[in-house]
Amino acid sequence: MTGIAVYPGTFDPVTRGHIDICERALQMFDHVVIGVADSLAKEPFFNIEERLDMLRLVFDDNEHISVKPFSGLLIDFARDCGADVIVRGLRAISDFEYEVQLAGMNRSLAPEIETVFLTAAQRYAFVSSSLVREIARLNGDVSEFLHPEILRRLTEKLEASK
Ligand code: COA
Repeated sequence: MTGIAVYPGTFDPVTRGHIDICERALQMFDHVVIGVADSLAKEPFFNIEERLDMLRLVFDDNEHISVKPFSGLLIDFARDCGADVIVRGLRAISDFEYEVQLAGMNRSLAPEIETVFLTAAQRYAFVSSSLVREIARLNGDVSEFLHPEILRRLTEKLEASK
């Protein structure tokens, strides 16, 4: 496969699970645009600038990846990026129902854009940004799930919010 794919999410913060999906998507597509949703309804811990900055830091040396914010509909963002594919990671069966709904709605709105699912690597199958934040807040070790600089920023922000 070639072309441009969009990998959307909140990335609050980016985990090694997200990095794994993104790297694998790059084996299928020429370019991956990471779309960072403002997700205001989720009341993110990191603001949009911080989330963008962390993703850019993680993928800094990769010219095949770009990181962009979006606040409207995902399909409009995908169209603006010239993408014809949306990539989503699937971790557990529990993700499936929501993801099928999302893909179905997006297909009705934009039939020319296909959604492709990649299964999360086994070791990240139970990782989520909110669980990582919670464990870190309670002084648990989340170093396995985060890039060292992301871990540093999370620890720093948690300290500052105490
Ligand atoms: N490894 C580890 N964790 C993963 C993962 C992976 N491979 N893939 C997803 N996750 C986690 C995330 O960390 C996140 O954890 P959290 O819920 O604890 O924060 C969780 O799975 C949810 O995934 P995320 O990737 O953040 O997506 P989301 O559900 O917050 O966002 C959007 C989904 C942004 C794609 C969706 O809301 C959207 O399209 N919004 C735009 C508006 C729109 O078009 N709406 C109509 C849709 S039909």
